[in-house]
Amino acid sequence: MSLPPALIEKYRELLPVSDSTPIVSLGEGGTPLVQLHRLGERFGVRLYVKFEGMNPTGSFKDRGMTMAVSKAVERGAQAVICASTGNTSASAAAYAARAGLRAAVVIPEGKIASGKLAQAIVHGARVISIDGNFDQALEVVRELATVTDIELVNSVNPFRIAGQTTGAFEICDDLGHAPDVLCIPVGNAGNITAYWEGFRRYHEVGRATSLPKMMGFQAAGAAPLVLGHTVTHPETIATAIRIGNPASGPQALAAVAESAGALASVTDAQILAAYRLIAATEGIFCEPASAASLAGFVMRAEAGDFTEGQSIVCILTGHGLKDPEVAVADAPPVLRIPSHVTDLERAVFRD
Ligand code: F0G
Repeated sequence: MSLPPALIEKYRELLPVSDSTPIVSLGEGGTPLVQLHRLGERFGVRLYVKFEGMNPTGSFKDRGMTMAVSKAVERGAQAVICASTGNTSASAAAYAARAGLRAAVVIPEGKIASGKLAQAIVHGARVISIDGNFDQALEVVRELATVTDIELVNSVNPFRIAGQTTGAFEICDDLGHAPDVLCIPVGNAGNITAYWEGFRRYHEVGRATSLPKMMGFQAAGAAPLVLGHTVTHPETIATAIRIGNPASGPQALAAVAESAGALASVTDAQILAAYRLIAATEGIFCEPASAASLAGFVMRAEAGDFTEGQSIVCILTGHGLKDPEVAVADAPPVLRIPSHVTDLERAVFRD
Protein backbone atom coordinates (compact mmCIF):
# COMPACT_ATOMS: atom_id res chain seq x y z
CA MET A 1 0.00 0.00 0.00
CA SER A 2 1.28 3.43 -0.79
CA LEU A 3 -0.11 6.88 -0.13
CA PRO A 4 -1.50 9.01 -2.94
CA PRO A 5 1.23 11.29 -4.30
CA ALA A 6 2.19 14.17 -2.03
CA LEU A 7 0.39 17.40 -2.83
CA ILE A 8 3.71 19.21 -2.86
CA GLU A 9 4.97 16.94 -5.65
CA LYS A 10 1.85 17.54 -7.73
CA TYR A 11 2.29 21.31 -7.73
CA ARG A 12 6.01 21.51 -6.95
CA GLU A 13 6.79 24.22 -9.53
CA LEU A 14 4.19 26.55 -7.97
CA LEU A 15 5.27 26.05 -4.35
CA PRO A 16 8.23 27.44 -2.36
CA VAL A 17 10.12 24.13 -2.09
CA SER A 18 13.49 22.95 -3.36
CA ASP A 19 15.18 19.60 -3.84
CA SER A 20 16.47 19.83 -0.28
CA THR A 21 12.99 20.23 1.26
CA PRO A 22 12.12 16.96 3.03
CA ILE A 23 8.47 16.35 2.19
CA VAL A 24 6.20 15.42 5.08
CA SER A 25 3.01 14.05 3.54
CA LEU A 26 -0.02 12.01 4.52
CA GLY A 27 -1.49 11.95 1.00
CA GLU A 28 -3.36 15.24 1.28
CA GLY A 29 -5.24 17.07 -1.49
CA GLY A 30 -7.01 15.62 -4.52
CA THR A 31 -10.36 16.07 -2.79
CA PRO A 32 -13.60 15.52 -4.71
CA LEU A 33 -15.37 18.33 -6.55
CA VAL A 34 -18.97 17.15 -6.45
CA GLN A 35 -21.72 18.67 -8.59
CA LEU A 36 -25.01 19.29 -6.79
CA HIS A 37 -27.40 18.91 -9.72
CA ARG A 38 -30.73 19.44 -7.95
CA LEU A 39 -29.77 22.47 -5.92
CA GLY A 40 -27.93 23.93 -8.90
CA GLU A 41 -30.95 23.48 -11.20
CA ARG A 42 -33.20 25.18 -8.67
CA PHE A 43 -31.18 28.37 -9.15
CA GLY A 44 -30.15 27.85 -12.79
CA VAL A 45 -26.43 27.51 -12.05
CA ARG A 46 -23.73 24.82 -12.16
CA LEU A 47 -23.12 24.25 -8.47
CA TYR A 48 -20.21 22.27 -7.04
CA VAL A 49 -18.85 21.58 -3.59
CA LYS A 50 -15.20 20.80 -2.94
CA PHE A 51 -15.23 18.38 -0.05
CA GLU A 52 -12.12 19.16 1.95
CA GLY A 53 -13.29 16.79 4.67
CA MET A 54 -11.67 14.06 2.55
CA ASN A 55 -8.17 15.19 3.48
CA PRO A 56 -6.17 12.86 5.79
CA THR A 57 -7.13 14.59 9.03
CA GLY A 58 -10.54 15.62 7.74
CA SER A 59 -10.00 19.28 6.89
CA PHE A 60 -8.37 21.68 4.42
CA LYS A 61 -5.67 22.45 6.98
CA ASP A 62 -3.64 19.48 5.69
CA ARG A 63 -2.82 21.37 2.48
CA GLY A 64 -1.12 24.06 4.50
CA MET A 65 0.29 21.75 7.12
CA THR A 66 2.21 19.54 4.68
CA MET A 67 4.02 22.72 3.59
CA ALA A 68 4.49 24.26 7.05
CA VAL A 69 5.80 21.06 8.64
CA SER A 70 8.03 20.21 5.65
CA LYS A 71 9.60 23.67 5.87
CA ALA A 72 9.93 23.37 9.65
CA VAL A 73 11.86 20.12 9.22
CA GLU A 74 13.98 21.70 6.47
CA ARG A 75 15.12 24.47 8.77
CA GLY A 76 15.75 22.05 11.65
CA ALA A 77 12.90 23.02 14.00
CA GLN A 78 12.26 20.55 16.81
CA ALA A 79 8.69 21.55 17.68
CA VAL A 80 5.58 23.17 16.24
CA ILE A 81 2.84 25.14 17.96
CA CYS A 82 -0.54 26.57 17.02
CA ALA A 83 -3.62 28.17 18.47
CA SER A 84 -6.72 26.48 17.18
CA THR A 85 -10.46 26.12 17.15
CA GLY A 86 -9.68 22.43 16.50
CA ASN A 87 -8.82 21.58 12.92
CA THR A 88 -5.41 23.24 12.82
CA SER A 89 -4.49 21.41 16.02
CA ALA A 90 -5.61 18.05 14.60
CA SER A 91 -3.60 18.63 11.43
CA ALA A 92 -0.52 20.00 13.22
CA ALA A 93 -0.55 17.05 15.63
CA ALA A 94 -0.76 14.50 12.79
CA TYR A 95 1.91 16.04 10.56
CA ALA A 96 4.24 16.61 13.54
CA ALA A 97 3.80 12.95 14.49
CA ARG A 98 4.63 11.94 10.92
CA ALA A 99 7.76 14.12 11.00
CA GLY A 100 8.84 13.09 14.50
CA LEU A 101 8.45 16.60 15.93
CA ARG A 102 6.90 17.69 19.20
CA ALA A 103 3.57 19.49 18.82
CA ALA A 104 1.81 21.80 21.23
CA VAL A 105 -1.73 23.00 20.55
CA VAL A 106 -3.49 25.78 22.40
CA ILE A 107 -7.27 25.67 22.37
CA PRO A 108 -10.10 27.79 23.77
CA GLU A 109 -11.58 26.22 26.88
CA GLY A 110 -14.61 24.01 26.19
CA LYS A 111 -15.16 25.27 22.65
CA ILE A 112 -13.60 22.62 20.47
CA ALA A 113 -15.50 19.81 18.80
CA SER A 114 -14.83 16.39 20.34
CA GLY A 115 -13.49 14.73 17.19
CA LYS A 116 -10.82 17.41 16.81
CA LEU A 117 -9.74 17.11 20.43
CA ALA A 118 -9.56 13.33 20.01
CA GLN A 119 -7.24 13.78 17.04
CA ALA A 120 -4.84 16.11 18.85
CA ILE A 121 -4.71 13.70 21.79
CA VAL A 122 -4.25 10.51 19.81
CA HIS A 123 -1.48 12.01 17.67
CA GLY A 124 0.42 12.81 20.85
CA ALA A 125 0.29 16.59 20.88
CA ARG A 126 0.59 18.49 24.12
CA VAL A 127 -2.92 19.88 24.44
CA ILE A 128 -3.18 23.13 26.36
CA SER A 129 -6.46 24.86 27.04
CA ILE A 130 -6.55 28.56 27.87
CA ASP A 131 -9.11 30.54 29.73
CA GLY A 132 -9.98 32.65 26.69
CA ASN A 133 -11.08 32.45 23.05
CA PHE A 134 -9.19 31.67 19.84
CA ASP A 135 -8.03 35.26 19.37
CA GLN A 136 -6.39 35.28 22.80
CA ALA A 137 -4.85 31.85 22.17
CA LEU A 138 -3.34 33.09 18.91
CA GLU A 139 -1.93 36.16 20.58
CA VAL A 140 -0.12 34.15 23.22
CA VAL A 141 1.31 31.53 20.82
CA ARG A 142 2.55 34.29 18.50
CA GLU A 143 4.33 35.81 21.46
CA LEU A 144 5.94 32.50 22.42
CA ALA A 145 7.08 31.93 18.83
CA THR A 146 8.96 35.25 18.86
CA VAL A 147 10.92 34.40 22.02
CA THR A 148 11.64 30.69 21.48
CA ASP A 149 12.68 28.51 18.55
CA ILE A 150 9.34 26.89 17.91
CA GLU A 151 7.62 26.82 14.52
CA LEU A 152 4.30 28.64 14.51
CA VAL A 153 2.00 26.72 12.14
CA ASN A 154 -1.07 28.94 12.17
CA SER A 155 -2.02 30.51 8.85
CA VAL A 156 0.11 33.58 9.69
CA ASN A 157 2.89 31.22 8.59
CA PRO A 158 3.29 32.00 4.84
CA PHE A 159 3.96 28.33 4.04
CA ARG A 160 0.49 27.46 5.31
CA ILE A 161 -1.01 29.91 2.83
CA ALA A 162 1.22 28.65 0.02
CA GLY A 163 0.07 25.05 0.63
CA GLN A 164 -3.56 26.08 0.67
CA THR A 165 -3.30 27.77 -2.74
CA THR A 166 -3.43 24.23 -4.15
CA GLY A 167 -7.18 24.06 -3.47
CA ALA A 168 -7.66 26.73 -6.15
CA PHE A 169 -5.33 24.89 -8.55
CA GLU A 170 -7.32 21.68 -8.17
CA ILE A 171 -10.65 23.41 -8.84
CA CYS A 172 -9.30 24.92 -12.07
CA ASP A 173 -7.82 21.55 -13.11
CA ASP A 174 -11.08 19.69 -12.40
CA LEU A 175 -13.41 22.20 -14.07
CA GLY A 176 -11.00 22.99 -16.90
CA HIS A 177 -11.39 26.67 -16.01
CA ALA A 178 -11.72 28.95 -12.99
CA PRO A 179 -15.24 29.07 -11.51
CA ASP A 180 -17.29 32.25 -11.82
CA VAL A 181 -17.82 32.41 -8.06
CA LEU A 182 -16.11 30.85 -5.04
CA CYS A 183 -18.09 30.64 -1.79
CA ILE A 184 -15.97 30.01 1.30
CA PRO A 185 -16.35 30.12 5.09
CA VAL A 186 -14.20 32.76 6.79
CA GLY A 187 -12.76 32.46 10.29
CA ASN A 188 -9.16 33.59 10.75
CA ALA A 189 -9.27 34.46 7.02
CA GLY A 190 -6.25 32.42 5.94
CA ASN A 191 -8.11 30.18 3.53
CA ILE A 192 -9.87 32.91 1.53
CA THR A 193 -6.48 34.63 1.29
CA ALA A 194 -4.89 31.41 0.03
CA TYR A 195 -7.60 30.66 -2.54
CA TRP A 196 -7.38 34.16 -4.00
CA GLU A 197 -3.60 33.89 -4.17
CA GLY A 198 -4.00 30.47 -5.84
CA PHE A 199 -6.44 31.67 -8.49
CA ARG A 200 -4.28 34.67 -9.28
CA ARG A 201 -1.16 32.49 -9.53
CA TYR A 202 -2.87 30.02 -11.91
CA HIS A 203 -4.02 32.95 -14.02
CA GLU A 204 -0.51 34.42 -14.06
CA VAL A 205 1.08 31.19 -15.29
CA GLY A 206 -1.60 30.80 -17.97
CA ARG A 207 -3.37 27.77 -16.52
CA ALA A 208 -6.63 29.70 -16.07
CA THR A 209 -8.01 32.48 -18.23
CA SER A 210 -10.30 34.16 -15.72
CA LEU A 211 -10.62 34.85 -12.01
CA PRO A 212 -13.61 34.08 -9.76
CA LYS A 213 -15.54 36.47 -7.57
CA MET A 214 -14.60 35.65 -3.98
CA MET A 215 -17.56 35.41 -1.63
CA GLY A 216 -16.65 34.91 2.02
CA PHE A 217 -19.17 34.00 4.70
CA GLN A 218 -18.81 34.52 8.44
CA ALA A 219 -21.14 33.32 11.18
CA ALA A 220 -23.44 36.15 12.27
CA GLY A 221 -22.21 35.99 15.89
CA ALA A 222 -18.57 36.08 14.76
CA ALA A 223 -18.54 38.44 11.80
CA PRO A 224 -15.83 41.07 12.43
CA LEU A 225 -15.06 41.58 8.73
CA VAL A 226 -18.71 42.15 7.88
CA LEU A 227 -19.24 44.48 10.83
CA GLY A 228 -15.96 46.31 10.32
CA HIS A 229 -14.75 45.88 13.89
CA THR A 230 -13.35 43.25 16.26
CA VAL A 231 -15.91 41.06 18.02
CA THR A 232 -14.79 40.62 21.63
CA HIS A 233 -17.06 37.69 22.45
CA PRO A 234 -17.64 35.76 19.22
CA GLU A 235 -20.40 33.15 19.45
CA THR A 236 -21.65 30.56 16.96
CA ILE A 237 -22.52 26.89 16.78
CA ALA A 238 -19.86 26.69 14.06
CA THR A 239 -17.01 26.60 16.61
CA ALA A 240 -14.35 26.32 13.88
CA ILE A 241 -15.06 29.92 12.82
CA ARG A 242 -15.76 31.33 16.27
CA ILE A 243 -13.19 34.10 15.73
CA GLY A 244 -13.52 37.81 16.51
CA ASN A 245 -10.25 39.25 15.23
CA PRO A 246 -9.03 37.43 12.09
CA ALA A 247 -5.26 37.55 11.60
CA SER A 248 -5.59 37.76 7.79
CA GLY A 249 -8.54 40.18 7.84
CA PRO A 250 -6.89 42.80 5.58
CA GLN A 251 -5.95 40.15 2.99
CA ALA A 252 -9.51 38.80 3.00
CA LEU A 253 -10.94 42.27 2.45
CA ALA A 254 -8.47 42.81 -0.39
CA ALA A 255 -9.42 39.49 -2.03
CA VAL A 256 -13.08 40.44 -1.95
CA ALA A 257 -12.46 43.96 -3.25
CA GLU A 258 -10.04 42.91 -6.03
CA SER A 259 -12.38 40.16 -7.25
CA ALA A 260 -15.55 42.30 -7.01
CA GLY A 261 -16.89 39.68 -4.61
CA ALA A 262 -18.60 40.07 -1.25
CA LEU A 263 -18.40 39.32 2.44
CA ALA A 264 -21.60 38.50 4.28
CA SER A 265 -22.79 36.78 7.41
CA VAL A 266 -25.07 33.79 7.81
CA THR A 267 -26.98 32.91 10.96
CA ASP A 268 -26.52 29.68 12.89
CA ALA A 269 -30.00 28.66 11.70
CA GLN A 270 -28.96 29.15 8.05
CA ILE A 271 -25.72 27.23 8.68
CA LEU A 272 -27.55 24.30 10.27
CA ALA A 273 -30.17 24.23 7.51
CA ALA A 274 -27.45 23.95 4.85
CA TYR A 275 -25.54 21.39 6.95
CA ARG A 276 -28.60 19.15 7.22
CA LEU A 277 -29.69 19.71 3.61
CA ILE A 278 -26.45 18.55 2.06
CA ALA A 279 -26.14 15.58 4.41
CA ALA A 280 -29.73 14.40 3.92
CA THR A 281 -30.09 15.07 0.18
CA GLU A 282 -26.59 14.62 -1.23
CA GLY A 283 -24.83 12.21 1.14
CA ILE A 284 -22.13 14.70 2.09
CA PHE A 285 -21.42 15.12 5.79
CA CYS A 286 -19.51 18.31 6.49
CA GLU A 287 -18.99 20.11 9.77
CA PRO A 288 -21.16 23.11 10.66
CA ALA A 289 -18.55 25.80 9.84
CA SER A 290 -18.11 24.27 6.39
CA ALA A 291 -21.78 24.66 5.66
CA ALA A 292 -21.44 28.45 5.98
CA SER A 293 -20.32 28.49 2.33
CA LEU A 294 -23.40 26.61 1.13
CA ALA A 295 -25.68 28.63 3.42
CA GLY A 296 -24.17 31.77 1.91
CA PHE A 297 -24.71 30.45 -1.61
CA VAL A 298 -28.39 29.71 -0.89
CA MET A 299 -28.88 33.16 0.65
CA ARG A 300 -27.29 34.95 -2.31
CA ALA A 301 -29.05 32.72 -4.86
CA GLU A 302 -32.43 33.44 -3.28
CA ALA A 303 -31.59 37.13 -3.52
CA GLY A 304 -31.03 36.63 -7.27
CA ASP A 305 -27.31 37.40 -7.15
CA PHE A 306 -26.23 34.78 -9.69
CA THR A 307 -26.79 34.65 -13.42
CA GLU A 308 -27.99 31.70 -15.49
CA GLY A 309 -25.33 29.06 -16.14
CA GLN A 310 -22.66 30.45 -13.83
CA SER A 311 -20.25 27.95 -12.28
CA ILE A 312 -20.14 28.23 -8.52
CA VAL A 313 -17.92 26.30 -6.12
CA CYS A 314 -18.59 26.11 -2.39
CA ILE A 315 -15.70 24.97 -0.22
CA LEU A 316 -16.76 22.44 2.43
CA THR A 317 -13.79 22.86 4.71
CA GLY A 318 -14.10 19.96 7.17
CA HIS A 319 -15.71 16.58 7.85
CA GLY A 320 -18.95 16.22 9.80
CA LEU A 321 -17.52 13.45 11.97
CA LYS A 322 -15.37 16.08 13.65
CA ASP A 323 -18.39 17.35 15.53
CA PRO A 324 -20.82 14.48 16.17
CA GLU A 325 -22.61 16.35 18.99
CA VAL A 326 -24.15 18.82 16.57
CA ALA A 327 -25.33 15.99 14.32
CA VAL A 328 -27.23 14.16 17.03
CA ALA A 329 -28.52 17.17 18.95
CA ASP A 330 -32.32 17.42 18.63
CA ALA A 331 -32.43 14.22 16.56
CA PRO A 332 -35.40 11.89 16.98
CA PRO A 333 -34.61 9.01 19.35
CA VAL A 334 -33.27 5.73 17.96
CA LEU A 335 -36.12 3.20 17.65
CA ARG A 336 -35.90 0.34 20.17
CA ILE A 337 -37.71 -2.89 19.30
CA PRO A 338 -37.74 -6.55 20.35
CA SER A 339 -35.52 -8.71 18.18
CA HIS A 340 -38.36 -10.07 16.04
CA VAL A 341 -39.05 -9.82 12.32
CA THR A 342 -42.59 -8.42 12.56
CA ASP A 343 -41.44 -5.67 14.91
CA LEU A 344 -38.56 -4.97 12.58
CA GLU A 345 -40.86 -4.81 9.55
CA ARG A 346 -43.10 -2.34 11.30
CA ALA A 347 -40.16 -0.24 12.41
CA VAL A 348 -38.66 -0.15 8.91
CA PHE A 349 -41.79 0.62 6.94
CA ARG A 350 -44.01 2.67 9.18
CA ASP A 351 -44.08 6.43 8.54
N1 F0G B 1 -13.82 25.86 8.21
C1 F0G B 1 -13.25 25.06 9.13
C2 F0G B 1 -13.76 23.69 9.27
C3 F0G B 1 -12.17 25.55 9.92
O1 F0G B 1 -11.61 24.74 10.81
C4 F0G B 1 -11.72 26.88 9.75
C5 F0G B 1 -10.66 27.42 10.57
C6 F0G B 1 -12.36 27.65 8.77
C7 F0G B 1 -13.40 27.12 8.03
C8 F0G B 1 -11.96 29.05 8.50
O2 F0G B 1 -10.74 29.11 7.83
O3 F0G B 1 -9.53 30.47 9.47
O4 F0G B 1 -8.65 30.14 7.18
O5 F0G B 1 -10.66 31.54 7.57
N2 F0G B 1 -10.14 26.82 11.54
C9 F0G B 1 -8.97 27.30 12.29
C10 F0G B 1 -8.51 26.25 13.27
C11 F0G B 1 -9.11 28.63 12.87
O6 F0G B 1 -7.91 26.59 14.29
O7 F0G B 1 -8.70 25.07 13.02
P1 F0G B 1 -9.83 30.40 8.01
